Amino acid sequence: MVQVGKVNFDRQAMTDFDTPINRFGTHSVKWDSMEGYYGVPAKDGIAMWVADMDFRPPVAVQHALEGMLAHGVYGYYGDEGPYLDAIRWWMKTRHGWEVERSHIFTTHGLVNGTSMCVDAFTQPGDHVVLTTPVYHAFARVIKAAGRGVTECPLATVNGRYEMDLATWDRMLTGRETMMILCSPHNPGGRVWTPEELRCVAEFCKRHNLLLVSDEIHHDLVMPGQTHTVMANAAPEIADRLVMMTATTKTFNIAGAHSGNVIIADETLRKRFADRMMAMGISPNSFGLFMAEAAYSPEGAAWVDELTAYLDGTRKLFDAGINAIPGLRSMPLEATYLAWVDFAGTGMTAAEFTARVEKGAKIAANHGDSFGLGGETFLRFNLATPRSVVVEAVARLQKAFSDLQ
Ligand SMILES: Cc1ncc(COP(=O)(O)O)c(C=O)c1O
Repeated sequence: MVQVGKVNFDRQAMTDFDTPINRFGTHSVKWDSMEGYYGVPAKDGIAMWVADMDFRPPVAVQHALEGMLAHGVYGYYGDEGPYLDAIRWWMKTRHGWEVERSHIFTTHGLVNGTSMCVDAFTQPGDHVVLTTPVYHAFARVIKAAGRGVTECPLATVNGRYEMDLATWDRMLTGRETMMILCSPHNPGGRVWTPEELRCVAEFCKRHNLLLVSDEIHHDLVMPGQTHTVMANAAPEIADRLVMMTATTKTFNIAGAHSGNVIIADETLRKRFADRMMAMGISPNSFGLFMAEAAYSPEGAAWVDELTAYLDGTRKLFDAGINAIPGLRSMPLEATYLAWVDFAGTGMTAAEFTARVEKGAKIAANHGDSFGLGGETFLRFNLATPRSVVVEAVARLQKAFSDLQ
């Protein structure tokens, strides 16, 4: 056992996704803030909201941190060649995407990356297109920066989301200068097809939009699914494309607050670099050490095990949820974030949410925070040991048992 802070690490257990890890008392927002945000008691509640996992990262990441601890000097980071090459290696081997070292920026995570893009590439009063429902921080950041959001709702076709570009064409006001795409999609878990991505690229050309493609979930695709990087799907829009990627979601190291903004176009790159300089943004060495270790063959093998585990869990969750009359879980092609529609219960959001929070004692994200179309949904984080998900499903079945 290695003692780090209050937590014991057992190296053998690091690809064990089944053994529950007590995260209370570790400053985990997901567990330690659950009661404050949702009123779901810490004593016997289940935290299924914030998108981090109740799993330890690959051993290589732990070793990288142990190396830092053993050295014990925590100065500024430099000589970033190996870190940049690890990113290039990962993108090439896992995504078939060639990235130049000089195109890579490191931000303090991708919410920070989003805000930097909004700052660098739009003006106050401009609008940003979001395909809703979508990751809630996008709208928060855009609005806080004095820009507007144009919500373009996704269509639900055969129980899954699809782009509705013909409708969106009619919805734009002329004030839009940027679009943020979530690929794969959170929530809803779609892996967009190359054809869908090309249609988005055409849409951006038609409306003269800069496209920011947030691909933070791109490694968490279910077996049998293939994610296509936007830069590969539509190379012809390189002059209006900004890519965003990260190790943090894939390897469960979100506390490192590190992400990559990757820009091929020289003019856009210069603009972004100027704003990075103006904001004084330089990376946190912990995130870079961990990223270099994670983007490795060992990290790749760990991700393959993880996605196979998540796939088994989401099938089990869906079967249990879809057996409750009126509830419908969208089939996940990617991410560990199950998107459950309660519309069929005929209840108001307050009613079904109370049953989940007070009855089942589960904290799940409220659908309306994801924008138009999310009102009848809750989002459940499944990246926790399967036994916890089994318990959650049993509690939900009980909380809605009068509908059986
Ligand atoms: C699409 C998307 N982008 C960004 C983030 C958060 O990024 P970060 O923690 O790097 O700020 C999330 C977290 O769930 C996400 O789903």
